[in-house]
Parts: sequence; C-alpha cells; structure tokens
Amino acid sequence: MVNICLVLGTRPQIIKSAPLIHELTNNHNVNLKIIHTGQHYDYEMSRVFFEELLIPNPYCNLNVGAGSHAHQIAEIIQRLEKVLLELRTDLVLVPGDTNSALASTLTSVKVGIPVAHFESGARCYDMLMAEEVNRRVVDHISSILFAVSENCIDNLKKESVLGRIILSGDTMYDVFLQENRAIQKSKILEKIDLEEYCVLTLHRSENVDNTDRLKTLLRTINKVASKKIIFPVHPRTKRVIKKSMIKFDNLITIDPLPYNDMMRLVQGSTFLLTDSGGLQKEAFWCKTPCITLRERTEWVETTNLGVNFIAGTAEKNVSVAIQTLLKNYDKVKEKFSMIGNPYGDGHASKKIINFLLEAGGFR
Ligand code: UD1
Repeated sequence: MVNICLVLGTRPQIIKSAPLIHELTNNHNVNLKIIHTGQHYDYEMSRVFFEELLIPNPYCNLNVGAGSHAHQIAEIIQRLEKVLLELRTDLVLVPGDTNSALASTLTSVKVGIPVAHFESGARCYDMLMAEEVNRRVVDHISSILFAVSENCIDNLKKESVLGRIILSGDTMYDVFLQENRAIQKSKILEKIDLEEYCVLTLHRSENVDNTDRLKTLLRTINKVASKKIIFPVHPRTKRVIKKSMIKFDNLITIDPLPYNDMMRLVQGSTFLLTDSGGLQKEAFWCKTPCITLRERTEWVETTNLGVNFIAGTAEKNVSVAIQTLLKNYDKVKEKFSMIGNPYGDGHASKKIINFLLEAGGFR
C-alpha cells in the first residue's frame, strides 16, 4: 500500500486534481489523503468544485486563508509538516504553481518525502509573477515532473532540473473531456439570454489591486468590445469594484461560476478576455479565441497557433487587440478546425498514475 497525499488549496488546483483523485481513489494499492491548505475558502472558490466534480472530502483543511504571500507560505509549512509526518506519507502530489504548491513542496522535501509535481515546466519568464517564482522552485526540488506539453519539457531541460521528466499531457484537458456532457447540459446560456457576448476574467493583483488601473482597463474593454461583457468576478477583484463603485454599461458582473457553467459560458462566447493562465487553455479547448491581458504567457502553444493574443493591459494595446481580432474573426475561428491539441490526449491522469505505481516511478 502506498500512502499518497495530494495537497491543494485553490480553485484551479481543485479542478486539475479531480481526474487524478478519481483514479487514485479507485486504485486498491493506494491510500490517498487530500489535504486542503484553505488558501481559497469561499464556497464558490472551493467547495462547489468538490461537489460538482465529485471529489471526496479532504482529510483535513489547514485553514490558512488570506494574507500576504509570506504569511500564506509560512503558515502552510508550519501546519502541513505535522500532518505529513503523522500520515507516514510516501509521496506528495502537488498541482500547479500557487503559494499552496510552493509551500507544500518545500514542506515535503524538508521532511524527506518526495514530490511529484504535475503541470510542470510551464514558464512565462516573468519573475515579477508570483506563480513563475513558485513554479521554478517547485520544479527544481521535486523528484518527478509531469509536463503537459513538449514545450514544457524543453523548458525543464533548459534549466537542467534534477527530477525525472515525463510527458503526461494536461489533467485539465482530462476534466474538460470528462465533463463534456455536463458542460452541454449547463443552463447558463439560457440564464444569460444574450445572442452575442464576450467573457472577461481578471484576478491578478497587478491588474486589479490598483483601482485606477482596473477602472481604465474596464473602461477600454467596455468601449471597444462592442457587445455585452459577462464578467464572473474573483473575490479579490469584487472588493475593489465594490469599494470604488466601478460600473460600465456593457459590463455584466456575476459571481464566480462552477466549472461546467464557466466552460459553457466560454464555449458560447465570441471571445474571452482574461489574465488567468488556465483559462487560456480552456478557451482553446472551447474553440473560443482568447485575448490575454498579460505581457507574457506560459501557454505559448496557443499563441503560436494563432488563437490566443497577448495584449498586455495598456489601453491602446488592448483596444488594438480587440479590434484586430474582430476584423479577422472568421479566419481565427477557422484555425480551430485545423489544429491539434498540444496538451495531451485526455488521459494524463492515467499516465501519471501508471508511471507512479507501475513503473515504480518514485521508489
Ligand atoms: C491564487 C493563485 C493564482 C491562481 C488563483 C486562482 C497564488 C500566488 N496565486 O490567486 O495562481 O491563479 O489563486 O484564483 O497562489 N479571497 C476570498 N475568498 C477566497 C479566496 C480568496 O475572498 O475563497 C480573496 C482574499 O481577500 C485574498 C484574495 O482574494 O486575499 C486573493 O486570494 P489569494 O489566494 O491570495 O490569491 P488569488 O488571487 O486567488
């Protein structure tokens, strides 16, 4: 029997862990314990995904909650160490690039437990982004690195990481395929009841914490998008919008959505505007063009294929990106029927588990 702990703490980590958790709970050779750091704690940022994606309850919640990065990381390390030792953990599984990922990897290696990192090798080469720092550290101290694409493998090789590198594909694509039926059944489009709209998400601190910057960005999008903009608002962003009473004619703000509703909303949308990492790939699978409101992306496959456009956040650049996309819209949409998926075949979680258990990957 192998004792595996999977440590997660944020919305995207819960989603990308779901297929792996299902595989592991069905495996009689594995004793899986899910540990929630509590980095995300609102119902619609955490619990809803456990219910929707039928993920078993975590063994425990470290309840670290909000705070500075240093606070979150330090608290997770302090609280997780005890749990990992008590459980006689053989291996820790860590998804993604959040503060929870960094802290749980550090804790594990410090108590001598190997880490397998999935969604490894993503790089945007912007060290001002918290996630870029997290990914680099996690990849350099993990024993096994499951990469989602050839490009991620190249990134890891360039950095001469010491762990074993395996091309697994993306567990986020596994979830997307597994949930397809439920996504199609979502009633979100009836609720929205609009012929045409685009979707916006914004949560990066550099985009939302400064009120003037957020206001300018929203004003530009409101003016140029030339249609209604559905904006599911992250709690961090909601606080700023509420405090400054930001309001624009075309902007329809809603609460964060469950996974299936969000995917259906993106599928039905003319295009997506986002500063999220994961949503750039999800828009790709939904065959929806994406404008990325960041200066760089780690998901260069989507930009190289000509369906994701890096706009940054400067007024002029966002405006040009939207206008150019609308002008070439049919050509961009056509590309989706001609390109393959660089993020695996939808069986990433099976590959990860086969490697770990059958190939004796971590012994
Ligand atoms: C974190 C991750 C980011 C990921 C994102 C997904 C880091 C450094 N960032 O960013 O990689 O893309 O999650 O959403 O780990 N808050 C609530 N309720 C919640 C969660 C957050 O009110 O359930 C508020 C808190 O005020 C908190 C703020 O949102 O201070 C930011 O949350 P935090 O987890 O620090 O970072 P995210 O912006 O969510």
